[in-house]
Amino acid sequence: MFNQEYSMSRGKVIVTGGCGYIGSHTVVELIQNEFEVVVFDDLSNSKEFILDRIEEITSVKPLFEKVDLSNPIEADIVYKKHADAHSIINFAAFKAVGESVRKPILYYKNNLYTLINSIEAQKKYNIKNFIFSSSATVYGSPDILPITEKLQTKRAFSPYGNSKRIAEEILEDFAKAYSDFKTISLRYFNPIGAHESGLIGELPNGIPNNLLPYVTQCAAGVLKELQVFGDDYDTKDGTPIRDYIHVVDLAKAHVKAVERLVSGNMKDKYEVYNLGTGKGFTVLDIIKTFEKVTKRKINYKIAPRREGDVLALYASAEKAKNSLDWEAKLSLENMIETSWNWEKLYRGI
Ligand code: UD1
Repeated sequence: MFNQEYSMSRGKVIVTGGCGYIGSHTVVELIQNEFEVVVFDDLSNSKEFILDRIEEITSVKPLFEKVDLSNPIEADIVYKKHADAHSIINFAAFKAVGESVRKPILYYKNNLYTLINSIEAQKKYNIKNFIFSSSATVYGSPDILPITEKLQTKRAFSPYGNSKRIAEEILEDFAKAYSDFKTISLRYFNPIGAHESGLIGELPNGIPNNLLPYVTQCAAGVLKELQVFGDDYDTKDGTPIRDYIHVVDLAKAHVKAVERLVSGNMKDKYEVYNLGTGKGFTVLDIIKTFEKVTKRKINYKIAPRREGDVLALYASAEKAKNSLDWEAKLSLENMIETSWNWEKLYRGI
């Protein structure tokens, strides 16, 4: 049957982990930029209703395959079925840093098997383009700021972080060996915020590990008190500096990366980009901005440093600006407002 929607699209993109936090925002941006999207997700750390929310925002429900991509047989079946795609965006991974220290095999197995099964299928079914969801954690504790992509990556503190670094090396070797395929790794700094509709956002499993969901859950009364991990760092107020970036800006960068891969204008077969704003904020900056924007008090106390935390991480965003034609636009206030709006709507406050 003639399918008008498909015939008008810019081709099919497979999004693994597309029901998750960054994945779902990226699916929205892809659909709004006229790509056809198929989501592969095992729903181990996400919910299927997110697909309905994506439909509410975009009026298009993405195709969906519930699949455990760490299983090679299951992975092969879904990639074969969607071999007409031109690009794969790989978000599917476990991401709890602390848990990865306690369960390294689980993390290496899930994150790396999923990646390897995906690129094996990519090659077998000739899907030309691949985007990998990486992290600023690959830089470890940098001596030079802002961080440019030229900085040597280091063995990460956690198996989670290390799985990202190893994955990047696997992808670089893949690109060297098979010249028909092109890959972009995107190194995220600290993604926060939510879609302006309040319909999708971050849904942490259990007690959140990351700062913003902890703050919003404190403000919502779900958690009692925020612990600020250390106030004796060498910064203006003693708390660590991070480069917080709006998840919608981040999602838009993935659309730019797909366009770059499809355009054939890549300088190299394998490219990496930092995705950050280039600005750093401390933990206390975040708390104060949250209180100002939402008019809610955050109950917090100073606690000991968290193992593995570094003093300061912020990006040089120049390479993404020059080659991807992308830069972050949304403010810290907007990041915090949308995070809080999502939390309120989700909890019916
Ligand atoms: C963490 C991960 C990083 C991962 C990223 C994903 C670690 C060491 N690093 O980055 O590998 O890619 O999340 O988003 O876990 N903070 C508090 N109290 C809290 C939570 C956080 O004070 O309850 C502080 C932290 O000390 C840090 C800042 O808030 O200074 C940001 O923390 P977080 O959101 O966990 O991100 P990262 O640690 O930068």
